[in-house]
Amino acid sequence: MNDRQWLQIYKHAKQWTIEAGERIRKMMNETIKVTTKNHKSDLVTNVDQAVELFFLKQLEKNYPEHQLMAEEGSGRRVASLDNIVWFIDPIDGTTNFVHKKRDFAISVGIYKEGIGYIGLIYDVMDDILYEAVKGKGAFKNGKSLRPLTHKTVALDQSMLHMSHAWLLEHTIFEHHHIKRLMTMVRSIRYIGAASLEIAYVAEGIIDGYLAIKLSSWDFAAGQIILNEVDGLLFNPVDPSLNILSNQPIVACHPDLRESLMNHLIVKKNDSR
Ligand code: IPD
Ligand code: CA
Ligand code: CA
Repeated sequence: MNDRQWLQIYKHAKQWTIEAGERIRKMMNETIKVTTKNHKSDLVTNVDQAVELFFLKQLEKNYPEHQLMAEEGSGRRVASLDNIVWFIDPIDGTTNFVHKKRDFAISVGIYKEGIGYIGLIYDVMDDILYEAVKGKGAFKNGKSLRPLTHKTVALDQSMLHMSHAWLLEHTIFEHHHIKRLMTMVRSIRYIGAASLEIAYVAEGIIDGYLAIKLSSWDFAAGQIILNEVDGLLFNPVDPSLNILSNQPIVACHPDLRESLMNHLIVKKNDSR
């Protein structure tokens, strides 16, 4: 794959993402059909499905040899990272979308042999595009994002994003360490759209985002964008981070890695 071919893929990915955003804004004014998937809080709408289908059709037409791994299952099942895989979340933050809360995004990460090359996170309602091409820096609406290392961050001055799920006892992590972490930082927030929260870490407006379980389409684009600004994205339990699995994910300023890891203690009887 040469530079010219990558440029072509990047242009397509960006054009389709912006176009998909326009479709979402338009469809929001029509009646939205909401259904549940695995449980009452796991929602999908006709808009998620239509946007995913739009990407699938574009890929079938322009890059039939590429694989698609997308949340609503229109892609073929991806079992290996051979060749090029597009990881797409057509709407990340579906619950916000259903409630007409503005924080949701389209997330598109393009990988070759498991290495991230192109990442796009499009904040649909605010028309803000976070993007990165491997080795070429990260941008927010065309403006270069500074490497996170231009400033230092201490845990007691940090703002983290983490969901209500961390307030409950769970199977993987020792709860009292998590509670202690919550008392040590400056503040905790959560918006309910993983891709946007990772983009905010890359932008340096929050210092870390902790998720108990994310899927590849939630973080694939964000990982590429974060890499370009020297941010970290890792699985705190398994350093090998197999992108095809669901797993706990931490995205953070590099200064916070150690102190976060000191609080993410795996239970001895972890029953994952
Ligand atoms: C969800 C959101 C949410 C995160 C969940 C994701 P969806 O994605 O990103 O913030 O906590 O783990 O599944 O279902 O809205 O695409
Ligand atoms: Ca998602
Ligand atoms: Ca989604």
